[in-house]
Amino acid sequence: NSARSARPPSAASAMASPALISDTDQWKALQAHVGAIHKTHLRDLMTDADRCKAMTAEFEGVYLDYSRQQATTETIDKLFKLAEAAKLKEKIDKMFKGEKINTTENRSVLHVALRAPRDAVINSDGVNVVPEVWAVKDKIKQFSETFRSGSWVGATGKPLTNVVSVGIGGSFLGPLFVHTALQTDPEAAEAAKGRQLRFLANVDPVDVARSIKDLDPATTLVVVVSKTFTTAETMLNARTIKEWIVSSLGPQAVSKHMIAVSTNLKLVKEFGIDPNNAFAFWDWVGGRYSVCSAVGVLPLSLQYGFPIVQKFLEGASSIDNHVHTSSFEKNIPVLLGLLSVWNVSFLGYPARAILPYCQALEKLAPHIQQLSMESNGKGVSIDGVRLPFEAGEIDFGEPGTNGQHSFYQLIHQGRVIPCDFIGVIKSQQPVYLKGETVSNHDELMSNFFAQPDALAYGKTPEQLHSEKVPENLIPHKTFQGNRPSLSFLLSSLSAYEIGQLLSIYEHRIAVQGFIWGINSFDQWGVELGKSLASTVRKQLHASRMEGKPVEGFNPSSASLLTRFLAVKPSTPYDTTVLPKV
Ligand code: F6P
Repeated sequence: NSARSARPPSAASAMASPALISDTDQWKALQAHVGAIHKTHLRDLMTDADRCKAMTAEFEGVYLDYSRQQATTETIDKLFKLAEAAKLKEKIDKMFKGEKINTTENRSVLHVALRAPRDAVINSDGVNVVPEVWAVKDKIKQFSETFRSGSWVGATGKPLTNVVSVGIGGSFLGPLFVHTALQTDPEAAEAAKGRQLRFLANVDPVDVARSIKDLDPATTLVVVVSKTFTTAETMLNARTIKEWIVSSLGPQAVSKHMIAVSTNLKLVKEFGIDPNNAFAFWDWVGGRYSVCSAVGVLPLSLQYGFPIVQKFLEGASSIDNHVHTSSFEKNIPVLLGLLSVWNVSFLGYPARAILPYCQALEKLAPHIQQLSMESNGKGVSIDGVRLPFEAGEIDFGEPGTNGQHSFYQLIHQGRVIPCDFIGVIKSQQPVYLKGETVSNHDELMSNFFAQPDALAYGKTPEQLHSEKVPENLIPHKTFQGNRPSLSFLLSSLSAYEIGQLLSIYEHRIAVQGFIWGINSFDQWGVELGKSLASTVRKQLHASRMEGKPVEGFNPSSASLLTRFLAVKPSTPYDTTVLPKV
């Protein structure tokens, strides 16, 4: 398997150190079990009807079939034992109780409180946070109703119909995912008629140009979304969009055209946004877990109305309840988390493909990429001990069938990549052409059902011979099969199910981190690049403004920078320039 045996023990692990999960008998039992699994083939495992039935779980119309995992019921039992050794149940309880499980930042992890019912009691630092959460939601409801009714008018007296949400990472990807998923839901689409919601994330001026293309500042509201209100990209984008508004409508327009979401209300005020138009959240909400806070709830409510967003929150809450109270045998996020640990740490598969057969879920994979890779991309345990095994995985994906015509070749005949297939029973937008064999959605779903079996069964040289395939092509047309996947079938895709799906992945990723014994709620790994960028920023300023030579960089960076600076910018540094498209 993928144990990092070559890595020398760190000073911390050489001393008497807190136990790692990989030191337990339960972990070793799974390692010993890998050999037995390598002797099996999914082609054979799939003939066992009892096994197939046992490897399913269902909750409120979300159906999970994990029979195409390279696992037997014995594997699952061993994984449950590992969960016990990792104290998974206790860790989930601690999260729901608001204990400070994000120890490196001394914070509770309470995104579940964001969607808890009004009468729930969830404490952080001995204070029930649920009333505060609902106070912000009530404020969003009221603000979005005023906004959507046309009573909130801009500087020229016109109602605002366009929203640009400025934010990056967790202040962008979750809301983008939900917006993209709701866009074609008939109820949500009806509620959003005549409105536009756009996102500006990248500090690339091209993204600024795209986000405001054909928009009139007079009818646009900008929401600056930043947990810290210090993120360099977001703050420059916010200043740029502020300039776009001010240069067209005057400085007094800011209070009517710019609002904010942040935990740092002091900086919001200093930026020039009216504190009455700021929507709070709390440090116990991790950025990538923040879509259910004002980060997502505000822009989505402006576009779709609060009642639809509330259904999304209720869907997420239903899964919170499920993960907290169901036995592990029936617990979808727990099963998923354990299987991912099995695939990564024991079978040695470093990646996971997220493949929704649903265009509305087009932005699921980018969101899960941050959620998973920022959460579990860690090299030390929560106690700071270097891990002797790999944690985290590389998440990527595209909607099927687009992915089939792109990277599935590698998945079928190249590397082994466990796949999440996600299908929806009822399409948001049914289409049928009279005379066609099947409806458009059934055509899509034919692929959803076929691909997992193609991966699991493959195609043998014997089959190819019987099909009279020329000898020289047999190796090329052989599919080894035995490639793991799991299939989700959702009854439909409205706001409620979108919330369920989000919450399933959030908890699955937390479960993986709990088993690995890492902190899935900090992200120190993003800091180094940020501080180095600040050194480069200073150099660029000094060279452009004062003609200073490049110094203090290694030879490679120095020559790259010199080459970059040799070309005079098309936008001189002495005048404001905004995008022209
Ligand atoms: O990329 C690091 C990160 O801190 C993410 O965790 C976060 O989602 C993103 O930056 C944006 O941060 P903020 O909401 O504070 O602007």
